[in-house]
Amino acid sequence: MKIKNTTTRRKFLNQLAGSLPALGILPLILHSRTSYSQTSNPLKIGIIGSGRIGGSVGLRWAEAGHEIFFSSRNPDQLEDLVAAGGPKCQAGFPQQAAEFGEVILVAVPYAATPQIGRDYGQLMQGKIVIDCGNPYVQRDGEMAEEALRRGTGVASAEYLPGVRLVRAFNALSWREVQNEAHREGELIAIPLAGDDQEAVAVATQLVIDSGFDPVAVGGLDRAREFDQGTDVYVKGMTAREMRAALNL
Ligand SMILES: NC(=O)c1ccc[n+]([C@@H]2O[C@H](COP(=O)([O-])OP(=O)(O)OC[C@H]3O[C@@H](n4cnc5c(N)ncnc54)[C@H](OP(=O)(O)O)[C@@H]3O)[C@@H](O)[C@H]2O)c1
Repeated sequence: MKIKNTTTRRKFLNQLAGSLPALGILPLILHSRTSYSQTSNPLKIGIIGSGRIGGSVGLRWAEAGHEIFFSSRNPDQLEDLVAAGGPKCQAGFPQQAAEFGEVILVAVPYAATPQIGRDYGQLMQGKIVIDCGNPYVQRDGEMAEEALRRGTGVASAEYLPGVRLVRAFNALSWREVQNEAHREGELIAIPLAGDDQEAVAVATQLVIDSGFDPVAVGGLDRAREFDQGTDVYVKGMTAREMRAALNL
């Protein structure tokens, strides 16, 4: 669901921070989550679609020490998100995020993916692009049916040509990213698929940095195994459980 206006976005941010009523203390509290290890290789990451999942994942990466450029077609609405993320975060338009990032996270309603490819594809050429969009027919229309039939790894590669594509962060919910990152005991697993081994390695590290356990499934043609509607989609599985379910 799109976060339509500033009021709704504020509510979302409050949820993001554990339903804190006073947004003024939000940055302090998020900044205090510094017990997680800091990356030794800070990346510049552009986020196209800074809603529930893009916003939540971006905050986890900022916590780990990455530089985050959140984007929106109305970037003034991202002030609170940037404040929550602290000094490593900034915001602007999607084009600026595509320029800024050595890695880009595309986190938009799936029907917008072809347009992201047309509008920002040139800027993303040769870059690592993590796509977490999920096709839902009720939201995205007929193209979603087609994408699910072909598998999102294959469909997204066609919509985002020339990028080093990895499918990841699609099979867990933003609430898990908000509440379960770095949890005690066995972590929740995040499945990944990609054809470019270096891109998969970078995305794998970004899964770890966000507080989850990566499960490499295979090439882009295997991303369908964790698409919307599969047995491992948003089930909160550990890596052990997910590997068993996927026969890995
Ligand atoms: N919600 C989850 O738990 C979750 C988990 C994993 C994957 N996903 C998938 O991730 C995608 C995003 O989900 P979400 O729940 O985060 O949605 P959301 O809260 O509605 O955020 C989507 C963001 O995409 C941006 N956007 C929409 N159309 C765009 C366009 N044409 N160009 C540029 N930006 C555009 C919007 O930004 P502006 O309007 O501000 O420009 C909006 O903030 C979906 O495909 C969803 O299925 C969601």
